[in-house]
Amino acid sequence: MKKILLMFSLLTTTLLATACGQQPTTNTNQTATSTNPLTEVSKHKTANDCWVIINGQTYNVTSYIASHPGGDTILAGCGQDATTMFNNIGKHAGQAQNILSQYLVK
Ligand code: HEM
Repeated sequence: MKKILLMFSLLTTTLLATACGQQPTTNTNQTATSTNPLTEVSKHKTANDCWVIINGQTYNVTSYIASHPGGDTILAGCGQDATTMFNNIGKHAGQAQNILSQYLVK
C-alpha cells in the first residue's frame, strides 16, 4: 500500500512539475521569437526597394512607384509605417486601397 502511495505521489509531482514548467517556457519563447514587422520593413527604404506598413499590413510597393499619381511623394513612406501619411491623403480613399492590396507581402 505504501508503495502505491509513493508511486502516486511521484506521478502527481512529475505531472505538476511538467505542467508548471511548460507554461512560462512557451510564453517566453513567443516573446523572444516574435519578429516586429517594422524591423523587416525598415530594411527596405529606397526607391529600388520600397516596403511600407499601412494599417497593419506590409506592402512591397517598389514596382508601383513609377506609376504613382502622387509622384515621388510615395518615397517618404519607404521603410516605415506610412499609415498616417497614406490615410491623410484624401484621394487615397478611392482606388488606392485596391491598388495597394496587389502589393501585399504574404
Ligand atoms: C506612403 C506615402 C504616400 C504618399 C505621401 C502619397 C501621396 C499621394 C498624393 C499627394 C496623391 C495626390 C496626387 C494628386 O494630386 O492627384 C496621391 C495619389 C494617389 N496615390 Fe499616393 N501616396 C503614398 C502612397 C501610396 C501608395 C502606397 C499607393 C498604392 C499602392 C498610392 C496610390 C495612390 C493613388 C491610386 C492615387 C490617385 C488617387 C486618385 O486620384 O484617385 N499612394 N498619393
